[in-house]
Amino acid sequence: MKILFIGDIVGSPGRSALREYLPKLKSKYRPDLTIVNGENAASGKGITGKIYHDFIQLGVDVVTMGNHTWDKKEIFDFIEDESASNMIRPANFPEGNPGKGYVIKKVGNKKVAVINAQGRTFLPPIDCPFRKLEAIVEEVRQETPFIFVDFHAEATSEKLAIGWFLDGKVSTVVGTHTHVQTADERILPNGTAYITDVGMTGPLDGILGMDRNVIINRFLTNLPARFEVTTGREQLNGVVVELDNQSGKALNIQRISINEDRPFFD
Ligand SMILES: [Fe+2]
Repeated sequence: MKILFIGDIVGSPGRSALREYLPKLKSKYRPDLTIVNGENAASGKGITGKIYHDFIQLGVDVVTMGNHTWDKKEIFDFIEDESASNMIRPANFPEGNPGKGYVIKKVGNKKVAVINAQGRTFLPPIDCPFRKLEAIVEEVRQETPFIFVDFHAEATSEKLAIGWFLDGKVSTVVGTHTHVQTADERILPNGTAYITDVGMTGPLDGILGMDRNVIINRFLTNLPARFEVTTGREQLNGVVVELDNQSGKALNIQRISINEDRPFFD
């Protein structure tokens, strides 16, 4: 079982990089399931129905979200629809939030559970991701050993803690949100593939995808500023994980990082 995960798609440059590279990545790695984080897909904050459906059309199986889930208000009109059944938002959003925190996908004669959760360190104080993930994992393990977690969080320590907390209970924990790919991909001792952050897909020469001059000026002056997705050269970051077909334990995790300095090759 192979799963391709592509990190935070930022604005139209991110969508364009996905359109360009997803077909190439699919023919290179032949994933059984493709997941993208789409919480920055609409001009850096949130997602629209059209963008979600474009992703599905491109061959994405599941779209995960994060702290910007509700930023584009139109999401409230479609997230509960059957047509949005492959979109998940952090499972530990408090009760009363629309949408759902995990989905179980059929892959051939197997099932894969994909779960999204969000950290609380330097982010809003939502429900406990540890306890919420523990409960969901216990539930979905009745159905399948193939369990993929996108943990959307700011703090490296919290992401590592979730990785170790779930080691041996899930197939993979990937971190998202901080937009810079970390080089710590590994398989933890009990068989969980782990990376602290997958990195982002979008502009290469901005700061986390945003116009760098605005951000530098913000640091210089501390004045309020409107962050805009920048343009120019693009990058795509992701991982591909390979899982044992029986146990669901990880056999391999490989980073993918494509940009002008590290061009795609077949
Ligand atoms: Fe985020």
